[in-house]
Amino acid sequence: MRARVRLADQDDAARAAPLALTVAHGDLDEWRQRLKRDVSEPDRWLFVAANGRCVVGYCRLSMVRSACQAPDGYYLVGLVVAEGSRRTGIAEGLVSAATQQARQVADALWSFYDVDNRPSAALHTRLGFLEQSRGRIGFPGLPEDDRHVLVRRSFTGPE
Ligand SMILES: CC(C)(COP(=O)(O)OP(=O)(O)OC[C@H]1O[C@@H](n2cnc3c(N)ncnc32)[C@H](O)[C@@H]1OP(=O)(O)O)[C@@H](O)C(=O)NCCC(=O)NCCS
Repeated sequence: MRARVRLADQDDAARAAPLALTVAHGDLDEWRQRLKRDVSEPDRWLFVAANGRCVVGYCRLSMVRSACQAPDGYYLVGLVVAEGSRRTGIAEGLVSAATQQARQVADALWSFYDVDNRPSAALHTRLGFLEQSRGRIGFPGLPEDDRHVLVRRSFTGPE
């Protein structure tokens, strides 16, 4: 059965937390709380790809107003697909859902990825994100000496 993308509820958030641990630091409870906040707080959204109750991917969308150099705006702040479910279009479906949501409230959607993350680079390029800067992108929470690419998908220009 193909996983379907939906706006997450609190149960989905809890079920998505183990996926976060496959790519990020932290403990399970911390991630459960973080993902549940995406569901319950304003200016945040969590989308999941799921087969029934089994969550195989998620994408976090959040307004980021920072005191750092990265521009204020709506950002994809987390995107993960379970290893066994990759290359089936799930990330594309998740980012498309987040993009539709961002379109309602902004004229652009921002994202970033590690310079060595070729799958993510290919995905963002395919979905119309254009590079804005690379190296130290000044995003809150990232190390100062990071090696990231900051990208932006505009909703005002041609598709
Ligand atoms: C990056 C990631 C989310 C992609 O998820 P996915 O569901 O496999 O991606 P999709 O199947 O939707 O891919 C859509 C397109 O993105 C590109 N792409 C995705 N994975 C790719 C890969 N491994 N190599 C090259 N291109 C890739 C392709 O253009 C692909 O289309 P195609 O399969 O028709 O060629 C997944 O690899 C992942 O979870 N990685 C670990 C966490 C991570 O790096 N997250 C991104 C942080 S910014």
